[in-house]
Amino acid sequence: MELPRVPLILLAAWALAAAAADVPAARSPGCATTCGDIAVPYPFGLDPQCAINAEFRVNCTTVGGATKLFHGTLEVIRFSVPEGKAWLKTFISRQCYDQATATVFYNNAWMNIGNLPYVLSADENKVIVLGCRSMAYMLSDTYIIGCLSTCDEPLRNGSCSRTVGCCQADLPRGVRYYEGFFNSFYNTTAIWRQTPCNYVTVMEMAAFNFSTTYLTTRVFYDADDSRTPVVMEWGITRETCQQAKINRTAPYACVSDHSDCVDGDAGYRCRCSDGFRGNPYIQDGCKDIDECLDNVTYPCAGICENTLGNFTCSCPRGRDMVNGVCVKNRRSTWMAPVVGASVGLVALVIGITCAYLVRERRKLHRVKQRYFRQHGGLLLFEEMKSQQGVAFKIFSEEELQQATNMFEAQQVLGHGGHGTVYRGVLKSGVVVAVKRCTTIDEQQKKEFGREMLILSQINHKNIVKLLGCCLEVEVPMLVYEFIPNGTLFDLIRGDHTRHISLNTRLRIAYESAEALAYLHSCASPPILHGDVKSTNILLDGDYTARVSDFGASILAPNDKSQFVTVVQGTCGYLDPEYMQTYELTDKSDVYSFGVVLLELLTRKKAFNLEGPEQDKSLSMVFICAMKENKLEDILDDQIKNDENMEYLEEIAELARQCLEMSGVNRPSIKEVADKLDRLRKVMQHPWAHEDPEELDRLLGEPSVVNSAGTTGNFSMTNKAAMGLESGR
Ligand SMILES: *[C@@H]1O[C@H](CO)[C@@H](O)[C@H](O)[C@H]1NC(C)=O
Ligand SMILES: *[C@@H]1O[C@H](CO)[C@@H](O)[C@H](O)[C@H]1NC(C)=O
Ligand SMILES: *[C@@H]1O[C@H](CO)[C@@H](O)[C@H](O)[C@H]1NC(C)=O
Ligand SMILES: *[C@@H]1O[C@H](CO)[C@@H](O)[C@H](O)[C@H]1NC(C)=O
Ligand SMILES: *[C@@H]1O[C@H](CO)[C@@H](O)[C@H](O)[C@H]1NC(C)=O
Ligand SMILES: *[C@@H]1O[C@H](CO)[C@@H](O)[C@H](O)[C@H]1NC(C)=O
Ligand SMILES: *[C@@H]1O[C@H](CO)[C@@H](O)[C@H](O)[C@H]1NC(C)=O
Repeated sequence: MELPRVPLILLAAWALAAAAADVPAARSPGCATTCGDIAVPYPFGLDPQCAINAEFRVNCTTVGGATKLFHGTLEVIRFSVPEGKAWLKTFISRQCYDQATATVFYNNAWMNIGNLPYVLSADENKVIVLGCRSMAYMLSDTYIIGCLSTCDEPLRNGSCSRTVGCCQADLPRGVRYYEGFFNSFYNTTAIWRQTPCNYVTVMEMAAFNFSTTYLTTRVFYDADDSRTPVVMEWGITRETCQQAKINRTAPYACVSDHSDCVDGDAGYRCRCSDGFRGNPYIQDGCKDIDECLDNVTYPCAGICENTLGNFTCSCPRGRDMVNGVCVKNRRSTWMAPVVGASVGLVALVIGITCAYLVRERRKLHRVKQRYFRQHGGLLLFEEMKSQQGVAFKIFSEEELQQATNMFEAQQVLGHGGHGTVYRGVLKSGVVVAVKRCTTIDEQQKKEFGREMLILSQINHKNIVKLLGCCLEVEVPMLVYEFIPNGTLFDLIRGDHTRHISLNTRLRIAYESAEALAYLHSCASPPILHGDVKSTNILLDGDYTARVSDFGASILAPNDKSQFVTVVQGTCGYLDPEYMQTYELTDKSDVYSFGVVLLELLTRKKAFNLEGPEQDKSLSMVFICAMKENKLEDILDDQIKNDENMEYLEEIAELARQCLEMSGVNRPSIKEVADKLDRLRKVMQHPWAHEDPEELDRLLGEPSVVNSAGTTGNFSMTNKAAMGLESGR
């Protein structure tokens, strides 16, 4: 929403005042409070006894004559206690053509803040890719996010919003690790001469302006020794405020009077209450603001009087405050017309106030209506009216705010690449899951109402029901049925001693595949899930699979006429072909489903950041094992026995087909579901075992598709899928 001009200036003034008041004052006397000209405010400290805990210990070092502040290995630009942020420097990754040797070389940068109290700020940073025909990605702990930058149109200086010469993508919340890498899909031979380098980095959005010289010279890389500024949010510990208050092993950090606790992506932090400023982490750190000394931020035309945490503004005797100005009160001079005049005055004030309130409400209403229209709400509304008996509701913003307790941090069920999911309770007592998306682009906004209409008609016993949506906000929200018994991921990765029979696993796989097959076939163009993974398969009371989060597909437009320039997905599940072509297809879901099958067979994680590079992705480990005929080595011991082996090999073969590099060679999800169904039936009728002909009949064709000759480009693309395309 637009803020009027004056308050913005006031805000800026306040920020300046706050920064000035942010004078470091560590707990022990004698603690250094600066490093060069960088302030080191408590809870940060240069010595062990000066920092709140070991994670907040920073390091002042002189490098080549200059004094620099380091946190771990990262250089610090600035700390802010009021904002709970830190500005650090991160490294740029590049892919360059070396004319002398006629080869492409890479400098791949990564950043691991796992042992520091930070997460990358999702609001202030972006993934920035520079180059002509540059396809680059950021691999984080969980997500792969990338975009495509081309030079098909004339280059212009300025912002990065047109994907010409540079492109940008949003970060998910809570990122603590990232690695930049390139996809060498395009033949760039023809353009190396003009633009020798491509770059990818994660950096502070406000600090970036695109310049054409970044492509033709080395200035972007060399300006600050191959680094860019990045904004971090910090938290004292990774607990929530509520957890921190009751934890007896670690002292609660918000020790100052008049301080509050704030939940953030990095954990909890403290702030001074309204009307106070200073350092909430030290005793009496939050001091009352004397508003009367600052008549710019706190204008008062009359007599200003400071109070604790606030101030009063009154008029001298004989004057009244009208619209912030003291005017002569005529009551004392003329007795007679007093009553009439004051009644008139009161009426006037009430009138003005009411008019103002009505105007403000109208304005708010207009904003809501605008969003509602933008998101195709009218169309949806008309259709809803004409279709009786559709259990789909258009929620108001207030309803969802109430249901989720104003989107409280404690209500968060999970963060996804596309947004955050909250638990909510509607007025009727129904428990729901509310999904608040991060951002969507203009095209998607227009399509939203129509998409909702399609999604609202989805009705399948293995799909989580979409109950409604809210359109009157800038980024629409989706409301789903709440499934209480956890995810398939929890089942597989939770208690390892818990026995899960092959039968159960096969049924969950079959049900999930059926659900996806329904999505792919129930509408035209097909509804693509776009983010199939074990955490998106929820389980009902009796372990019935319920596929959730299919709304993600509408956030990744698959309209071919509009070229998609941002790719995002979950590490370990993302279709490598989609990463190369930027085209999400039904076979992308098949690929991801293949990985879910592997999880069911092996009970291993789809992606493991720790461990040797060749073992990071489960699909990679599996393909290698299949090639070397060592399938048995990776199967889960619980289901690995002589009786099951035949079925396990069948499922493994099915998974292998799903993981084919080329989408056309993968089976359709319907074929996968049918195959799983046949396997289930065979398992349930052991008599078929003794009769080989019956077994053949039930199993059908041994292989769903012909998959010969498709492993040629495997090593390159799967490397890319894992984020290892680095030329190291
Ligand atoms: C401080 O920085 C120096 C130089 O980078 C390093 O040798 C030293 O180990 C660091 N100390 C701590 C506590 O991080
Ligand atoms: C962009 O700005 C740079 C200087 O910062 C200038 O050399 C270049 O010509 C400008 N490019 C365009 C297209 O205006
Ligand atoms: C890339 O394009 C150039 C001509 O522009 C061609 O000579 C070269 O063989 C191509 N490289 C590949 C790998 O296709
Ligand atoms: C980006 O450009 C705007 C307008 O040209 C300018 O005000 C701003 O300071 C620039 N920012 C950076 C980081 O160069
Ligand atoms: C309490 O705090 C300590 C230190 O930060 C942490 O290791 C521990 O997990 C916390 N306990 C609980 C119950 O959150
Ligand atoms: C200060 O007082 C005004 C008027 O009484 C009130 O509206 C405002 O909420 C108060 N501010 C704080 C921080 O208590
Ligand atoms: C603020 O106070 C200063 C000094 O008391 C005065 O000169 C100035 O005119 C005041 N400004 C406003 C906007 O009241």
